Amino acid sequence: MRIEPLTCHIGAELFGVSLADAAHDEALFAEIKAALLKHRVLFLRDQDISRQDHVAFARRFGELEDHPVAPSHPDAPGLVQIYKTPDTPIDRYENAWHTDATWREAPPMGCVLRCVECPPVGGDTMWANMALAYEMLPEHVKAQIANLRARHSIEASFGAAMPIERRLALKAQYPDAEHPVVRTHPETGEKVLFVNAFTTHFSNFHTRENVRFGQDANPGAGQLLSYLISQAYIPEYQVRWRWQKNSVAIWDNRSTQHYAVMDYPPCHRKMERAGIIGSATF
Ligand code: SIN
Repeated sequence: MRIEPLTCHIGAELFGVSLADAAHDEALFAEIKAALLKHRVLFLRDQDISRQDHVAFARRFGELEDHPVAPSHPDAPGLVQIYKTPDTPIDRYENAWHTDATWREAPPMGCVLRCVECPPVGGDTMWANMALAYEMLPEHVKAQIANLRARHSIEASFGAAMPIERRLALKAQYPDAEHPVVRTHPETGEKVLFVNAFTTHFSNFHTRENVRFGQDANPGAGQLLSYLISQAYIPEYQVRWRWQKNSVAIWDNRSTQHYAVMDYPPCHRKMERAGIIGSATF
């Protein structure tokens, strides 16, 4: 296997490897996992593998989970269909910078995404390195956010495009989750900036330093949260990948955000994603 970095800070392409083989080869899988921890997102071309091999490879990392809004493939439970065609509903948008499913108490540790059909041009996906985003923050901001926690909501994201009854039912099933604003990566020990498009507000902003008058709370917290969320938009932290049929991306969901560029309608784009269950963030 050959590994070629795609930018200075995030992303590498793997050559000379089939994920169908890696699904059954301990040593090869260990090499890929080490590369994932180092580069955060890995890319492969020409992975003409079966859905069962896709699932088997992803399951080397851990159990898979379905998604409450997008269906899983009937022949491959755990393989979520992110299909965008003119007939698919609008509430499946992915074009916001996000870490997958942080509205769960234990968000996924990673994902394996394969392109099944893509537009002739457009439909790229971008990823951002959120460990670097944390590292590059000014020291006074690091000090201010060191103990902050924030709420993440499926209701305020996917739910916002739904009729009220469906939205409230979704919220009842998936209540908001709370995570530290600075998460420690469970495998590398790095600090990671952990707020994204699913984050609605800080849950413990009201210290003496932050809130002198009640009047301070909303603009102070809101501006800080917007500033932190906007760090993923910085190009120096990003990699952008152009898909072809059977291209695969594997990402570490604990230290990255991503954004699927929706510039291709009315063309079709069909992706299948195995989301791997992660651990609580504390
Ligand atoms: C996702 O947001 O997990 C899917 C990304 C994509 O479709 O490119």
